[in-house]
Amino acid sequence: MSVEYKKAMEYIERIYEEQDDPKRLDYVARVSRNDFGSPITDEAARLFKTLIHLVRPKRILEIGTSIGFSTTSMALAARTYGGRITTLEIDSSWAEITKNIFSREGVSDVIDIIVGDASETIKDFEDETFDIVFQDSAKPLYPVMLDDCIRVLRKGGLFLVDNTLFPVRSPKEKWSDSLSKIHDFNEMLLKMPVQSTILPIGTGCTVAVKL
Ligand SMILES: C[S@@+](CC[C@H](N)C(=O)[O-])C[C@H]1O[C@@H](n2cnc3c(N)ncnc32)[C@H](O)[C@@H]1O
Repeated sequence: MSVEYKKAMEYIERIYEEQDDPKRLDYVARVSRNDFGSPITDEAARLFKTLIHLVRPKRILEIGTSIGFSTTSMALAARTYGGRITTLEIDSSWAEITKNIFSREGVSDVIDIIVGDASETIKDFEDETFDIVFQDSAKPLYPVMLDDCIRVLRKGGLFLVDNTLFPVRSPKEKWSDSLSKIHDFNEMLLKMPVQSTILPIGTGCTVAVKL
């Protein structure tokens, strides 16, 4: 990370220090175990909340719940417009823990967790069911689930994807299996009926609109 970029990031975090709620670090500190899938960054959460206030979604699909930091952040914005979030998680023990986290965070009334392999459970949704689809599950699933993610999204809806700059912004040893899959996904998205871009925040955030 260049010095200039780091300075910009630190400046942004300082500016939003008072406003961010919930904050990633505080949220994580309230979870008793630490063997969970990594939550989105505060800057990604701000981006998603901003987009939710623009789109005013009634239905959001999230793929990859973990401790539900992204889910909670999005739920707080979406509930303003009567929005609900369906979140897909393969790990049943984390799904149970996270249900309790949602209660504690006061958002359980607008969130439904579906336990199972998301590449299977997504098949149960009809075409164009959701206003926003957020992909944040296992990285090798990104290319596998791309068709279904776009299928269940309404035209004009938003497809959000975290970690899409993994090929250039992640510890290669830790994520070696995922890097080529994410690169494949980034190229595949170009051939889908979407207008998209990759924003260099966190480890990369793709924002796409279904045409
Ligand atoms: C990066 S974490 C999600 C973080 C979360 N979105 C947040 O910001 O708080 C990825 C999650 O995807 C889940 N996952 C992995 N493979 C999955 C699959 N096939 N179906 C559903 N969930 C899966 C993992 O168990 C993990 O909890």
